Order: sequence, then structure tokens, then C-alpha cells
Amino acid sequence: METDPGTSYDTVVVLDFGAQYAQLIARRVRESRVHSVILPFDASLEEIQRYRPKGVILSGGPASVYEANAPRCDRRLFDSGIPILGICYGMQLMAHELGGRTGPAERREYGRTRLIVEDPLDLFVGLERRLICWMSHSDVVTALPPGFLTLAHTDNSPFAAIADRNRRLYGVQFHPEVTHTPWGMEVIRNFLFRVCGCRPSWTMESFIDREVQRIREVVGEGRAICALSGGVDSSAAAALVHRAIGDRLTCIFVDHGLLRKGEPEQVIRTFRDHFQIPLVYVNARDRFLARLKGIIDPEEKRRRIGEEFIQVFEEEASRLGEVDFLVQGTLYPDVIESGTRVAARIKTHHNVGGLPSTMHLQLIEPFRELFKDEVREVARQLGLPSELVWRHPFPGPGLAIRIVGEVTAERLEILREADAILLEELTSAGLLREVWQAFAVLLPVRTVGVMGDARTYGEVIVVRAVTSEDGMTADWARLPEEVLEAVASRITREVPGITRVVYDITSKPPATIEWE
Ligand code: XMP
Repeated sequence: METDPGTSYDTVVVLDFGAQYAQLIARRVRESRVHSVILPFDASLEEIQRYRPKGVILSGGPASVYEANAPRCDRRLFDSGIPILGICYGMQLMAHELGGRTGPAERREYGRTRLIVEDPLDLFVGLERRLICWMSHSDVVTALPPGFLTLAHTDNSPFAAIADRNRRLYGVQFHPEVTHTPWGMEVIRNFLFRVCGCRPSWTMESFIDREVQRIREVVGEGRAICALSGGVDSSAAAALVHRAIGDRLTCIFVDHGLLRKGEPEQVIRTFRDHFQIPLVYVNARDRFLARLKGIIDPEEKRRRIGEEFIQVFEEEASRLGEVDFLVQGTLYPDVIESGTRVAARIKTHHNVGGLPSTMHLQLIEPFRELFKDEVREVARQLGLPSELVWRHPFPGPGLAIRIVGEVTAERLEILREADAILLEELTSAGLLREVWQAFAVLLPVRTVGVMGDARTYGEVIVVRAVTSEDGMTADWARLPEEVLEAVASRITREVPGITRVVYDITSKPPATIEWE
């Protein structure tokens, strides 16, 4: 981990006891302008202390503390003097380790639960005495450890929030990090600022200054290349590295012909015309179409696109002569995912610029420590256009995995038009930023319609719009009926060959966000 401890910002360490929770907590801490890092639950006290943390947060997790193989943190952490906030499993573990008792609850609590605050001195400062919180647990603390007092309870959890003020140890049974606990950010902030004494000084201005400095030192007189995809991550990475080393950065933009309407033009406008960064534009549309001819299997499409991309990229890079560094827009969630968990392979994800390890270039990944919202802020501050800053995530294989069945030039054109209409309507309704992703999918299914007095027989466009925190889980977006209606009527009117528009109301799981 590359954090330089003891710099201009304060750090809080989040110990990860289970999927999803830790990242959300770390993001909430960053939103409070305090730097956070996630470490595995069994990080040693020495590893934790390397970050000179002002506080430690123990995340929730799926285990029970009284099970034999329950994940535990370094026991010495509790005597280290560092303030600690345990959340759900984290609180149960703290109680268990310090001489209290935890056991199965008589009644499990899931979802919205009434919380009664008994002691509003620190975690609950500024909040009502009766609150609605979000619970998700089957164990509870049944006896407090020595030195602890109760801050809040619910009907089924006598110890829903606890504290040992002298040792600055705190625990909450509910989840302050989820949006369903609307005042949860206050609890997190109270912990950070009142208990830990953090300063709110983690800002993207200071991040940019530090990174520019660091990149200059690392690259020296060397040269770098960056694969631009049109997305915010690679665009912001390119703009940042360009600020550091100027024209010793060359961007390569492989146009695989699978991008949305207007995207290639915008990339060229932004980088070549506005930032004046040396940009190699490669029109490889025909090559990719040829590789995709006749292919309908989603994994095969992904494989071919990934392979072809590397080939084109390497050809172009080799034309540039001596290059030492490859810039990539890797984000913190990718770093954590690959470092801590082995997930079942649902699809082969391909990131533009992600793969050419055979090129033996040293990587520059300025955003390895950042979350997506932080990268957007970096992008904004670097002066990238706002459509690019707020662009929805877009898969590396592009529209190819949103065309079910064979990808052809004609079908790409149909999908591009339908997709553009959807995005236009969402933009004019002010809903684009409300959803995580919204896009059109083209199905190889014909249905009957009627236009004028004539029978039509055309294909189907699916509209997909989801809300999500991180793309790992998602819910279908409750778009207003008028917006859906406008989208359907415009698509059937303006896109030749489409007779029907349907709305996908499946969440993830069981579906995935993309159709392939
Ligand atoms: P799924 O469809 O797996 O998508 O629910 C989760 C998120 O990942 C995006 N996605 C990709 N991103 N390369 C990418 O860079 C890919 O191959 C890829 N496939 C899916 C998807 O758009 C969603 O945001």
C-alpha cells in the first residue's frame, strides 16, 4: 500500500470482516474528508500502525463470534489506545474479546428498526432521541464487557450502541454506513471528529498536487503511454499524468467501433484539441467487426474483443519507439477485490488498457487508492467536460455485449441511435446522475407492430436502468412513467426497424446489469 503516513491528512483504518461492508464504510469516511484504508481483518497491530491511524473501524461480516473459526483481529489492537468503532459483527467481536457476551438473538432484526438513544454525548450528538436505523443481524451482545455503558437500545437489542469512553471504544449494532440509516453519516462523523479528533483534510486538490509530484519523480525523463477508452477513469488518469510529465505522455485511442454515439469525436476533441495531448487515434472498426462476424456467444465475444484490443494496442505502441510506462485508471475497489477475494467468474471482464502485461512496461496507476466518486472529482478539477465526468460505467467490450446475437454494422447503428435517445431523455429529465447506469439492449427477436395502417415486423429494444452503490448489486430504477413513455415513443418513431420497447425490471442478483 503506497500511502505515505503522517502527511497532510489523517487516516482511519477499516478492518474488513466481510464482503461489501468495509468498502462502504471506507467510502463514508472519505466522504467526510478523512482518508481511509481497508485492511484484512487479521492485519497485525504493526501493519495497522504503519498508517498512524487516528481511529480504526471494525466492519460487519457474516460470521458469528462464538464460532470456532470466526475471524478475529489482532487482540492487542484493543489495548493500543487507538479509538475503535465496531459495527455489527465488529461490535460483537469487541464485546466478546473484552469480556462481554454475544449470542444468538431471540428475534433477528432485519431492515428498518426503531432505536432509542439513551446517552447522546458523543456518537449521537445532534441527533433525535428516537431514530429509525437499519439492522441486519442474528446475533446480539447479551452482556456488556467491564467498563462499557449503553448508548442506545432497540426492542430486541438491549445494547444497540455501547461505549467505554475512557478507552475510546465504541460499538453499534446497526449499520450507519448504509443509506437506509439516513442519519448514519452523523454517527460516523461524530466518531471521526469528536472521538478520534480527525481533521477533514482529505481533498482531491491535495491529492492531485501530491500525485503530480510523485509521478514526476517516478517517471523522471521516461516516456509513458495511456490507452484511452472514453470513460472517466482512463481520461482522468491521462489528464493527471499529462499535467505531471507533459508531452512525454502519448495517448492511444483504439476505436473498436463499439462505442456510444458521439464518443470517439468527444475523446478526440477533449484530448487533442482541448488538452493538446499527443493522441494516436486508431480506427479499428472493421478489424473488430471482422473478428465478431457470426459470433453469438457472449464469452466468445468478450474473448475476441479483448484479444484484438491488445493486438491493435501493441502494434500502435511499438510504432512509438522507446516507452517505459503504461498509465492505467485502476480504482481502489479493483485493488481490494483482486487482493482479498476470489470471486466466482461470472463474466470475463475486459478493461480497455487493462491487459498488455507482455509489454513489460512499468505501471502508473494514480487512482489505485481512489473510489469512483473521488475520481470524478479529480476529473472535474482537471477540467474534463462534465459529460465525461458523469459518464456512466461502460464495459470494455462496449455495445457488442448489448447486442444479443450477432454484431453487425447495421445492428450497431440501430442500438447507438436507441441508446442516444434514452440518454437524451434521461438528461433532459435531470435523471442521468440519479441512476448508476442506463442503456439500451438490442434483442434478436422480431415482433409484430402496426404503423400507419401497415403491419410491421421489427426487433425489440430493452431499456435497462439501475441504481447501485458499486455495480456488485443493483436494483432496477423506478423511472417515471412519462420518461419511459417518451423513450418508447421516440425509439419506435425514430429508429427504423424497432417495433417494441420493453423495460427490464430485474435486479442483480439474480440478473447481472449487462445482458451478456
Ligand atoms: P455485470 O453485468 O457483471 O456488470 O452486472 C457490473 C458492472 O461492470 C460493468 N462491466 C464491465 N466493465 N469491462 C468493464 O470494464 C467489462 O468487460 C464489463 N462487463 C460488465 C457493467 O457495465 C456494470 O457497470
